[in-house]
Amino acid sequence: MLRKVLFASSEVFPLVKTGGLADVAGSLPRALCALRQDVRIILPAYPEVIDNMGPTRCMARLDMPQGKVRILMGDLPGSSVKVWLVDFPALFTRAGNPYMGPDGQPWSDNAARFDLFCRVIVEIAMRRTSLKWKPDIIHCNDWQTGLVPALLSLEEQAPPTVFTIHNMAYQGLFPHANFVELDLPDSLWSHDGLEFHGQLSFIKGGLVYADKITTVSPTYAKEIQTQEFGYGLEGLLQHRSASLSGIVNGIDTDVWNTETDPLILEPYSVRNVEYKQLNKKALQQSSALRKDDVALAGFIGRLVYQKGIDIILEAIDDIMQLPIQLIFLGSGEEDYQQALLRFAKKYPGRIAVTIGYNEAFAHRIEAGSDLFLMPSRFEPCGLNQMYSLHYGTLPVVRKVGGLADTVVNTDADTLANGEANGFVFSGDRPSDLVQTLGHALKYYNEDLVWKKLQITAMWRDFSWDHSAREYIQLYDQLH
Ligand code: ADP
Ligand code: GLC
Repeated sequence: MLRKVLFASSEVFPLVKTGGLADVAGSLPRALCALRQDVRIILPAYPEVIDNMGPTRCMARLDMPQGKVRILMGDLPGSSVKVWLVDFPALFTRAGNPYMGPDGQPWSDNAARFDLFCRVIVEIAMRRTSLKWKPDIIHCNDWQTGLVPALLSLEEQAPPTVFTIHNMAYQGLFPHANFVELDLPDSLWSHDGLEFHGQLSFIKGGLVYADKITTVSPTYAKEIQTQEFGYGLEGLLQHRSASLSGIVNGIDTDVWNTETDPLILEPYSVRNVEYKQLNKKALQQSSALRKDDVALAGFIGRLVYQKGIDIILEAIDDIMQLPIQLIFLGSGEEDYQQALLRFAKKYPGRIAVTIGYNEAFAHRIEAGSDLFLMPSRFEPCGLNQMYSLHYGTLPVVRKVGGLADTVVNTDADTLANGEANGFVFSGDRPSDLVQTLGHALKYYNEDLVWKKLQITAMWRDFSWDHSAREYIQLYDQLH
């Protein structure tokens, strides 16, 4: 059935990206369109987005209490999916990233910025604009879109909503004064509404009022109903469990493709996985690592507590007792950055560290590493372990969220039944990581077994098609 879906996200790859949400928002709509859904993406018109977009044209002007808003339309680069940009320079035209200024501090008016974004979506959903295209379903993502289901709950004949949680750690919490300033309807201020311990919670708008809630892996859907992962919202999520499900993300197999990746030195595939070695040598050379034949383990990601970087840092001296090299690419908290740089100095030729964000380098690390470290403390889905599997780079992960759903630990049984594709551990002590790496290195020394693991990893289908079909089944229940 052809269905019109308005897909709302505060970041979309390749227009603007701070994390995996952008990857999902750039890929899932394309996969849905390929399955004959009529999907439009909506996001704020940040300057970076305008720069990265081809030509746009103004499709509508809205008179909002905050002022005049233009809706610009263009194509998602590299596809025919239409993108609507909410153009309101006073709130969105500024240097910095979507959520923070150049000083690394959140914009002080974030509540007003994403309130406006949500209210524009509500106007479109309620067909109160001159836009001809009218959505049947509104698919919201993360707290920045949380007010949409809340505000639509007060309207007659509103279209149904899906709210996808990409990370419960970011909730969009603001003082009560913002609730008043934004002139949000009083009826939304209660424990059963947007209030969270006296604060305004954007994410609760999605969790309380959306018709369906999804998150990005089945294990995370269960975890967030527990105290450990629910941040005080576990009771609400238990209450809504009949409407909550987990759908694992896919990866963009055009961008992440070992046979066609223009960013890596030597293409390879399951047929000639040994060519991966050439990428490893090039990576060692360019990163001033010794050209030893020891295993090379990569890490790419935000340097924050979530990613278990503290576990790695505490374990590094012990890891260096093993025959292994480490390569890091990431940016985030200053303390973690400095600690990594210190270790790079302490172990020259064995640890390489690049602080920053670099898509091309990320591809070269995935192609050139043997192992990929991702000992996250929590991980709603995680994309890097899937890029790794796809590149024959065996992930070493904690058994949480999407990591538990995509990586199968290697032992005699899983090797025998052909499911093993990585290394999984449960604890959160540095020694758990060191032991698991030691376990992995035993297999590294057995060429044939290692190749079998790599091929199992690379064979798995991570294309978006499968996940998109699950979203369509969910839409079917609503419309
Ligand atoms: P999260 O969204 O929690 O950061 P994901 O694994 O879902 O984690 O997605 C992270 C995305 O950001 C991946 O596409 C990853 O390659 C990318 N990424 C993170 N840090 C960097 C970096 N420093 N350089 C390049 N890419 C990065
Ligand atoms: C969040 C999560 C990550 C997930 C991504 C995309 O940033 O931290 O685990 O892969 O969203 O859904």
